[in-house]
Amino acid sequence: MSLKKKIDFGNFENFYDLTKLATKNNLFYRKKNDLIREFEKEKWSKALELIRKKKVELNEIENIFLNLNNKILCYEAKSSNKLRVLKYKTALDIQFNYLKSKILEHKNLSNNIVELGAGFGSKILRLAKLKVLKEYNFFASDIANNGVKFMKIYSSQNKINLNVGTCNFLENIFYDKKIPKNSIIYSFFSFCYLKKMDKTFIKKLLELKPAIIINFEPCFYSNSFNNTHKILKQRYLEFNKYNINYKDTLKLFESKNIIDLKYTDDVFGINPLLPFTIFEWKEK
Ligand SMILES: C[S@@+](CC[C@H](N)C(=O)[O-])C[C@H]1O[C@@H](n2cnc3c(N)ncnc32)[C@H](O)[C@@H]1O
Repeated sequence: MSLKKKIDFGNFENFYDLTKLATKNNLFYRKKNDLIREFEKEKWSKALELIRKKKVELNEIENIFLNLNNKILCYEAKSSNKLRVLKYKTALDIQFNYLKSKILEHKNLSNNIVELGAGFGSKILRLAKLKVLKEYNFFASDIANNGVKFMKIYSSQNKINLNVGTCNFLENIFYDKKIPKNSIIYSFFSFCYLKKMDKTFIKKLLELKPAIIINFEPCFYSNSFNNTHKILKQRYLEFNKYNINYKDTLKLFESKNIIDLKYTDDVFGINPLLPFTIFEWKEK
């Protein structure tokens, strides 16, 4: 990939393969079995296999799935060119820094931090290692048992204070143990696997009495298709069967005066067609 040529959405296809998006259709939404196959079997089992053999670093695990030295096309709303070619490792660091700064911004609200859909723990384990959060309690859950087992082993090897459990958003189960009231709860690319975000899901989250909920999730705009990037993103979300109604559902709760809601759209994307929006919301 050339770093010299300026990339914009006019020459986007020189840097990103759009063929599949243009010609095929994915027909299926992910059910529990599909999630288990994708994350439990195809992904986090490899992480678990490695940590059972030896002590590992989180980068080593990421390197199994993504070649960290490869260069990829990324999107960042605040950078002047928006599209940039970065090393995978650099892109992951930028992504983590967005999470870190949001958590630090809200750190005085609670000393409990919870990640829902934490995978093998790449985000929460890094947060838990930060000196500034050393007095905090951490909680993480996932539907994939191999991710849960990995987090247990890694946190015990590294003396990290992480409570681990399972969840299943399809049944509105967020953690199989108790999440302390008044926690800072976040998700990072995990709610987006839900076909539909219904009102019950939001109500159940509110029953946890969180201090704040922060979501880093891709977002669909039901009513604005006014530029090439937005059109491609919408198509990408639909094609890959990611959630497309999270923002609308949250806005409904906002319009009924139930929650305070703030969001920043399309902040950063390791995949330029899948940038995350940051949602911050809490009960009024
Ligand atoms: C893309 S990974 C992200 C993991 C982690 N948040 C991170 O950023 O490294 C998505 C995770 O969400 C979990 N997930 C997806 N759908 C879920 C559901 N319905 N219930 C519970 N977890 C789910 C998957 O098992 C997977 O580990």
